[in-house]
Amino acid sequence: MSLLYFPSWLIVAAFFLVTCVSKGMIFDIRPSVEEYLPNYDFYHNLSRMNQCLHHVSSKYSEFLDVQMRYRSRMGLTQFVVRVSNFSLDSVSKSKSDNRSRILFSYGEHAAEFLPVQSMFHLIENITQGYDLLRETHGAKFTRYLLNNFDLFILTIVNPDGRTIVERTRNYCWMGTANSVDLNTDLTANLRRTSKGTYRIIAAEPECRVFRELTSKHSFDAFFSFHSGSRQILYPLSDENSKGSGVDVLYLASLMSSSLKSGFKLVPANTSLFDAGIFTYANQERKIPFTYKISLWGGKEMKSDIPDKNCFSTFNPPSEDLKAELEVIHPLYPTIFNFIHNWKQTQILIMAQQQRSKTGGVPFSVSFFIFILGCACVLLLCNIRVPFSWKIYYRRQRRIVSLRSLGTLFAVICPLT
Ligand SMILES: *[C@@H]1O[C@H](CO)[C@@H](O)[C@H](O)[C@H]1NC(C)=O
Ligand SMILES: *[C@@H]1O[C@H](CO)[C@@H](O)[C@H](O)[C@H]1NC(C)=O
Ligand SMILES: *[C@@H]1O[C@H](CO)[C@@H](O)[C@H](O)[C@H]1NC(C)=O
Ligand SMILES: *[C@@H]1O[C@H](CO)[C@@H](O)[C@H](O)[C@H]1NC(C)=O
Ligand SMILES: *[C@@H]1O[C@H](CO)[C@@H](O)[C@H](O)[C@H]1NC(C)=O
Repeated sequence: MSLLYFPSWLIVAAFFLVTCVSKGMIFDIRPSVEEYLPNYDFYHNLSRMNQCLHHVSSKYSEFLDVQMRYRSRMGLTQFVVRVSNFSLDSVSKSKSDNRSRILFSYGEHAAEFLPVQSMFHLIENITQGYDLLRETHGAKFTRYLLNNFDLFILTIVNPDGRTIVERTRNYCWMGTANSVDLNTDLTANLRRTSKGTYRIIAAEPECRVFRELTSKHSFDAFFSFHSGSRQILYPLSDENSKGSGVDVLYLASLMSSSLKSGFKLVPANTSLFDAGIFTYANQERKIPFTYKISLWGGKEMKSDIPDKNCFSTFNPPSEDLKAELEVIHPLYPTIFNFIHNWKQTQILIMAQQQRSKTGGVPFSVSFFIFILGCACVLLLCNIRVPFSWKIYYRRQRRIVSLRSLGTLFAVICPLT
């Protein structure tokens, strides 16, 4: 039966049904009651984000690449920005790659606008430094960053949630279009979902980017940025052997002191909790340094799941945004300096281990060669020689025996 046999009104009705369903999911939510709202001249909305990223990736293509391979459930792009000196890629193919590899993740929770702004502030810092004269401090910082790091930045992991927030003006929406919280808050017991970590990571299309990037590249550090309080969550885990507990705590305290305004250090036993991406990075992928940092907090939340004044709980007023971002920014150089030094130490340790390994022939190898030599000698002695040679062999027998065996050993078994 062809499409033409259907009455045309049926097709039109079906079309309307489809569009209503897809929009209904979005427009069913009522706006939240808010103390203040975002001014999109200061905050970036989704369309402005896209514009910005397109602009920087075309202008600074030699060190900033925007990948658009990953998509959310609703088909929106989860932009992955890679920042590094790309001409080092070819150099490090032949030699070992000495750059520190860091994964930054922003915008996992829809209503947390501030972390995404902090990411744009960082990108602006890097790109502006590139345009400056070589002697200036900004230019040196950018060059240091590009030549020593390979940064992967997930600019907005949950674009569906952001679309819902922008369209419905419900600033209490945290999850994805499927209402899944990608990174639950352990300490405040907020928004805890009943779904297990690995189910979230496996089932949500938003998590594909984590699975693929973390399996393709071995990261030295992973940071997941949030807002709503001022705290640094670090893993307390016996299972991740790659990052020593002392180093992890030390970087946490360095970051806290760089931020000035009293950030709490919160240890989290990741084998006990179900915390989405954070637990996954630490437990499954064993990234040496994993943190979940909440960058800014308004007043304390009273109820477990806030249903009003959410925007002011998670984000500063638009006029204060710039000043707040300046306060947060010292966090980044702190991270870069620490990870860079740590990585250099690791490279030295590795080089030393390699040297001690290849220094001499191990005992087992020389013993094996010795046994092989003995076997050869036995074989030689038992070989049947032609008749004409036999007389010579007999005559020389005594002389051949011990001394030549000794030289044979010396040739076959150069014991060190
Ligand atoms: C996004 O913000 C810009 C201003 O930065 C504004 O001109 C534009 O209309 C906004 N777009 C939407 C879809 O709200
Ligand atoms: C990395 O560091 C090691 C040891 O310092 C050095 O031998 C190697 O050439 C470096 N690799 C690159 C790509 O610079
Ligand atoms: C970027 O940030 C670094 C670290 O805070 C700072 O030293 C540098 O001057 C900044 N660059 C620009 C262009 O603002
Ligand atoms: C990138 O690396 C190449 C090769 O090492 C070097 O010549 C170039 O100056 C570097 N670019 C920047 C911006 O530092
Ligand atoms: C985390 O919790 C598990 C399960 O209770 C426990 O076995 C482990 O010792 C705890 N780890 C730390 C570092 O406290």
